[in-house]
Amino acid sequence: MTAQLKELFNTEAKKYYLLENRNFIVNEDNKSFLNIFCKYFSQDPDFETSHKGELRKGLFVFGSQGTGKTSSFKIMQNVSKEYSLKQVWTPIVYTQKVVEQFNLAESGKTDYVIQYFSKGKFMFDDLGAEKEASNFGKEDIFGRIMELRYNQFLQKGTKTFVTSNLNFEDIKNRYGTRLYDRFYQMFNVLELGGESKRF
Ligand SMILES: Nc1ncnc2c1ncn2[C@@H]1O[C@H](COP(=O)(O)OP(=O)(O)OP(=O)(O)O)[C@@H](O)[C@H]1O
Ligand SMILES: [Mg+2]
Repeated sequence: MTAQLKELFNTEAKKYYLLENRNFIVNEDNKSFLNIFCKYFSQDPDFETSHKGELRKGLFVFGSQGTGKTSSFKIMQNVSKEYSLKQVWTPIVYTQKVVEQFNLAESGKTDYVIQYFSKGKFMFDDLGAEKEASNFGKEDIFGRIMELRYNQFLQKGTKTFVTSNLNFEDIKNRYGTRLYDRFYQMFNVLELGGESKRF
């Protein structure tokens, strides 16, 4: 199953990067990440045995700018669409967009925005890059969203996916120790390192 998903991912990655006039680069920086990423999405037991991960948790993918984090999730979305693989479908939302929706909400309706993003599967792109929300007072709303999602994870097994330039120490500094501690329980942490592939 992993071998098949890898092949589909490879095909879609080539198509994806071709639209940017680029070849799909696989090198020492991303090889093992891509391998584990595909294992996770094919629910390969090897993800738990060899990689000490847990398939019931979500994924926290971190690394510096331009290493291919967002693209990897977008490619997996394309795999899901192209081959009708519902189990690998993950809606992607940009964290700053969530903050903007919150800021634009009428007073008294901001809770709907928080509630909406607290339920169901989501990939939050670029956690930590969003500005503080500003709607009759300033607030780091992802602290609240993530805590609600943690409760959903415990109650229903709801999975959360994240890409970020922050590591867990940085998460602690921005959102506090309460969330930092919860993150260990709800995420498998994967690093996608290396130099930026942007040019
Ligand atoms: N494996 C790859 N092969 C070819 N190009 C790549 C690859 N990974 C990334 N790139 C290039 O780098 C660009 C940035 O990738 P992406 O947006 O996925 O990075 P990111 O890790 O999400 O960065 P950031 O942390 O800044 O959000 C892509 O648009 C693409 O041009
Ligand atoms: Mg990104």
